[in-house]
Amino acid sequence: MWKIAFLFLSVAAVLAERKRYDGHKLLRITPTTQEDLDAATKFIDQRQSELDFWKLPRGVSDNADLRVSPEEYDTVAEQLRAAGVNFNVIQENLQDRIDEDYERLSNKAGKQPIDLEDFNRHGDINTWLTNQAASCTGGVQCTTYDIGNSYEGRTMRVIRIGINSSDQKPAIWVDAGIHAREWISPSTAIYFINQLINNAADATVRQVLERFDWFILPLHNPDGYEYTHTNERLWRKTRTPTDPVWDCYGADPNRNFGYQWGGDGASPEPCSDTYRGDSAFSEPCAQRVRDFVTPRANQFRAFVTMHSYGQWWFTPWGYTANEVPRDYDDQAAVGEVVADAIFAVNGRSYTVGPSSILLYVASGGSDDWSYGSLGIKYSYCPELPDEGFGFEIPREYITPVGRETFEGIKAMANEIWTRE
Ligand code: ARG
Ligand code: ZN
Repeated sequence: MWKIAFLFLSVAAVLAERKRYDGHKLLRITPTTQEDLDAATKFIDQRQSELDFWKLPRGVSDNADLRVSPEEYDTVAEQLRAAGVNFNVIQENLQDRIDEDYERLSNKAGKQPIDLEDFNRHGDINTWLTNQAASCTGGVQCTTYDIGNSYEGRTMRVIRIGINSSDQKPAIWVDAGIHAREWISPSTAIYFINQLINNAADATVRQVLERFDWFILPLHNPDGYEYTHTNERLWRKTRTPTDPVWDCYGADPNRNFGYQWGGDGASPEPCSDTYRGDSAFSEPCAQRVRDFVTPRANQFRAFVTMHSYGQWWFTPWGYTANEVPRDYDDQAAVGEVVADAIFAVNGRSYTVGPSSILLYVASGGSDDWSYGSLGIKYSYCPELPDEGFGFEIPREYITPVGRETFEGIKAMANEIWTRE
């Protein structure tokens, strides 16, 4: 009995420590005409620094999403109406969905094998990678690489999967979870890993394993990811201490890479959610990826770093909207092949093009680095879907999103293969 009481108390203590979003709503702003879009854009520009916009619109009939606290709601709603901006409330209470996930997941942590239809903890994912690698059969070879530790000392584990693997074989890099709260991204990487290992009898899977070695890092930012499980569901950055006076933590690892680091769209403010870091590659997780990928750059034909959300298949550049890369036509053409393959599965549309032009300018992205510094031509930064839930996409979508994105990535691989 006392054990149950103790368990209850410790669960309550953990829950109490977590940041809560009771009554926080997610508003979706849906411009349908150019006028609507102009009004929305004006509002966003004015308020972006104080309000938490989860998503910005890419044009007429695309949405912007905004989280508002119960205290903010009345004023914000009033201001939106005054500005002539249409919106609906797509989530009434974010905490309800967050609690649902936390409660379910607390019963699953520490178990093997991980639940492929749920979100999983970093340590469990790492154990699963090791176990999967040990169980590879049917001519598929698997190797894990511990590429170093995160700031808080978590092992960053990459798995390589291929048939007749070698250091000379063309390869594809996939990473996920660079932004901590974007949970559908690591789950999608795990879907890929499971398919490549356990569905290699499928002819299309076998083909991409014969053509490429796949290097997959499912959690680029394990400290941030664990923090979203233990403390703050909507944490985005790493967890390095950045400002002792204001007690701020974390740099944005996708502003920390060393190509055009420190340019536009990357904040110099340590407390900002898009803080670029102290210097290029100040973040241990970004350093580890740099040090692992750089010596293998000649092997990599593609570099894919997965985010959520927005249904974009981004190409470089992120750092400037003033020019497109020399290889843009090829990058976009392969991107369109991906978008078509995804569309064919569940009818979901993606938009292909430079993130700086379609979304916003952001310097220090890992895709700009892989293309700009390493010359990996097919460097992409996909933004996976959210199904109307923002970062809190329910577990039911793990498999459908995994399946369609895997079709997209196989199509990408084969298109690159055909073009070489
Ligand atoms: N949402 C992503 C971010 O803010 C998009 C980044 C686009 N820019 C880029 N260089 N990939 O990090
Ligand atoms: Zn992201």
